[in-house]
Amino acid sequence: MADASRLAQDGGQAVHPGPWPRWPQVSPEDEAAVLAVLRAGTWCSATAGAAEVRAFERAFAALHRPPGEGDLDCVSVSSGTAALILALQAAGVGPGDEVIVPPYTFIATASACLQVGAVPVFADLDPATLCLDPQAAAAAWSVRTRAVIPVHFAGCPADPPTFAALCQDRGAVLIEDACQAPGAAWLGRPVGSFGLFGCFSFQESKNLSAGEGGAVTGRGEALERVWSLHNAGRTREGAWYGHERIGQNLRLTALQTALLRSQLQRFPDQAARRARAASLLTEALARVPGIAPLCPPPAATAHAWHLFAFNYDPAAFGGRDRRAFLAALRAEGVPASAGYTLLSGNAAVARQATVNAQRAGVPLPDGGNAALAVARQAADRCCWLHQAVLLAEESDLRAIPEAVWKLQRAWG
Ligand SMILES: Cc1ncc(COP(=O)(O)O)c(C=O)c1O
Repeated sequence: MADASRLAQDGGQAVHPGPWPRWPQVSPEDEAAVLAVLRAGTWCSATAGAAEVRAFERAFAALHRPPGEGDLDCVSVSSGTAALILALQAAGVGPGDEVIVPPYTFIATASACLQVGAVPVFADLDPATLCLDPQAAAAAWSVRTRAVIPVHFAGCPADPPTFAALCQDRGAVLIEDACQAPGAAWLGRPVGSFGLFGCFSFQESKNLSAGEGGAVTGRGEALERVWSLHNAGRTREGAWYGHERIGQNLRLTALQTALLRSQLQRFPDQAARRARAASLLTEALARVPGIAPLCPPPAATAHAWHLFAFNYDPAAFGGRDRRAFLAALRAEGVPASAGYTLLSGNAAVARQATVNAQRAGVPLPDGGNAALAVARQAADRCCWLHQAVLLAEESDLRAIPEAVWKLQRAWG
């Protein structure tokens, strides 16, 4: 008889040899929606496809509009990176400015600041959520701080009201990096509605996906500047060849927004499914010695669960490092990964920050890298499961703690 405790990487039986839900997922409604636009030839958002694109923008804005606040709207753009750059440009952030960001995020959060000529300043994280810590952000402040970009990491709101109050008190702009967090909310108020702008991504891995794509949420004239900047400097009411500022073409196509609008139909069901899976995994994994799932605060009333993240302590696994743990876990059929390296240690970021500071004639922020203790530990110890895994059946999800227990019993 097979020895069930023998690790799969040593020739034993894998705990979960079967597949996980594939991503992206395509429904017959998605196919019909894309085909309709394809056949109609109304592909371009600036011309015949405008109505289709606007229909998606209205629906996406409605998802992030706080009750009773009719003015929140949205501009769809070509990527989350484009959304961040446009938000910074429209907020007037540029050379000589500093922007406080977390170091544990996708490079776009920092590279967008560098693209507009500013310098990102890294501040440490809240250990419970791995989102930017408001106190650390306040401590990283300087006379040149013009904006703060907290990231709603993994889909968990990064205490947006505290950041909004901090920015208001100190005269800076709040831009929410909500690329991983569509539909998330803090005490019932949706992300993307707290800052001057909220930035979202529809890149392939995201909970709502068009392969590529993004959106900026915001209000009034500020959002109109985003619209103009993403559309060759035009204005909504202006002529095709009327260009009032220097913009770019960062438009999404109507084929993409048709696909996104169709996905919105099943988005609430998928979000509920991910949330149920996250509670099951949190409860089961928290029992395993050396495994500590992140701990969203109760105020995070809606979490997008783009990722399910947990910290791994090698001491409880016989000193095996995270790389060995993840390799053995993957051999058991659990598709976990290691996640980000810190942007504060990225040479390209440091080089461009130096160039930007020199060009603007301002000192380079000292960065306080030594103080990034939580972020350093996250980069060493955090493990991720992707949102698509959270759409699995309960019996498949239970294989995840089972596989982790198997390793812990073998090594612990
Ligand atoms: C936190 C965060 N910010 C920004 C981005 C950039 O989005 P995109 O890949 O659509 O440019 C992503 C996605 O990859 C992200 O996860």
